[in-house]
Amino acid sequence: MATIKLLGISGALREGSTNRMLLKEAARLAGDVDYSEADLQLPLYDGDDEAKSGVPARVEALAKQVSEADAVVISTPEYNGAISGVLKNALDWVSRVEDNPWASKPVALMSAAAGRGGGNQAQVMLLSCMTNFAPRIVSGPLVAVAGSFEAFDDAGQLKGEMYVNNLTALMEKLRAAV
Ligand SMILES: Cc1cc2nc3c(=O)[nH]c(=O)nc-3n(C[C@H](O)[C@H](O)[C@H](O)COP(=O)(O)O)c2cc1C
Repeated sequence: MATIKLLGISGALREGSTNRMLLKEAARLAGDVDYSEADLQLPLYDGDDEAKSGVPARVEALAKQVSEADAVVISTPEYNGAISGVLKNALDWVSRVEDNPWASKPVALMSAAAGRGGGNQAQVMLLSCMTNFAPRIVSGPLVAVAGSFEAFDDAGQLKGEMYVNNLTALMEKLRAAV
């Protein structure tokens, strides 16, 4: 199995984020990967700042990470039925670099949320947000981890067999798309 460069993007910033845990599980179940996680600690997009100073170095670095990855996994929390502002801000910033790093990029989407829907609604919104950038989104099986604060064991591994099977299948599809 060839090693693939996998980039994880979490829509939640916090240290103990269950979306970050889900990304790590995606990397583990994806087999032989060189995994790194993006840093979405970016300034809020402001057209005046951009006109004055250009695209921030941190945004250029993020776009380069996307561009150099063989595949990308994005996991979003659900805030009021939508993706997080942190994630939308990062997507908007990256759209301001010269070349679109998402073009034809194999991308898998997933979510983890406290509610019973597992962030399904946010994931639909994320799909719609990504469409503009023309990546190759691998579709299904749906990975939307419900009750996410209780969904991982002490070692950070996903508890439910259905989640593990679906995430494994999704990662196989993502690898096949590379
Ligand atoms: C502002 C806000 C809005 C939220 N709205 C929802 C929601 O609509 N649906 C849901 O399932 N959970 C909602 N939650 C709970 C989140 O699912 C949970 O805090 C978080 O997304 C889990 O992700 P994390 O562990 O990666 O931080 C909300 C949390 C916050 C802070």
